[in-house]
Amino acid sequence: MRAMTLADVDAVLAIEQAVQTYPWTRGNFIDALDHGYICSVDDAGGGIRAYAILMPVLQEAELLVIGVAAQQQRKGVGRAVLLEMLDVACKKNMLRVFLEVRASNAAALALYRSAGFGAVGVRRGYYQNANGSEDAITMACELTGEIN
Ligand SMILES: CC(C)(COP(=O)(O)OP(=O)(O)OC[C@H]1O[C@@H](n2cnc3c(N)ncnc32)[C@H](O)[C@@H]1OP(=O)(O)O)[C@@H](O)C(=O)NCCC(=O)NCCS
Repeated sequence: MRAMTLADVDAVLAIEQAVQTYPWTRGNFIDALDHGYICSVDDAGGGIRAYAILMPVLQEAELLVIGVAAQQQRKGVGRAVLLEMLDVACKKNMLRVFLEVRASNAAALALYRSAGFGAVGVRRGYYQNANGSEDAITMACELTGEIN
């Protein structure tokens, strides 16, 4: 993993548009970089295959987005990226990481649970979808200083 730069935005956006139902825009990524959020990419030497963005809020952080290129999914990349982001948060002495996930996103829910996140709330109708809206599950991971 390395820090995302402005030069990476095209490649990240291409993955985002391919894998997310309601993708972030170019402006969203540029804003995240401008705000100094923790923006990381995994390029493994062969082009960017995954990315994640963590927004620090005092001693907590919010995982805003994570994506893995379609042809690289189900190979452990998403889990490695997520654990790396938790490790970064740990090293910055953060106490917990929150995120919101679509109730229908079974892959992401399973990934987050396997990394130690638990559901802490539901935001009814938080996301748009083809039927109008769907719930967001709010999840949290307490950071103990030991990331597996
Ligand atoms: C969610 C996402 C990041 C997972 O990345 P990945 O590299 O495919 O995940 P991994 O291979 O590391 O899998 C880790 C765990 O996630 C779960 N998982 C991943 N893909 C899954 C799928 N299609 N169905 C069910 N569970 C899945 C499993 O628990 C898996 O563990 P296992 O392989 O031991 O069973 C990826 O599917 C993705 O980019 N999806 C589109 C974007 C998105 O939904 N992002 C999250 C919301 S912002």
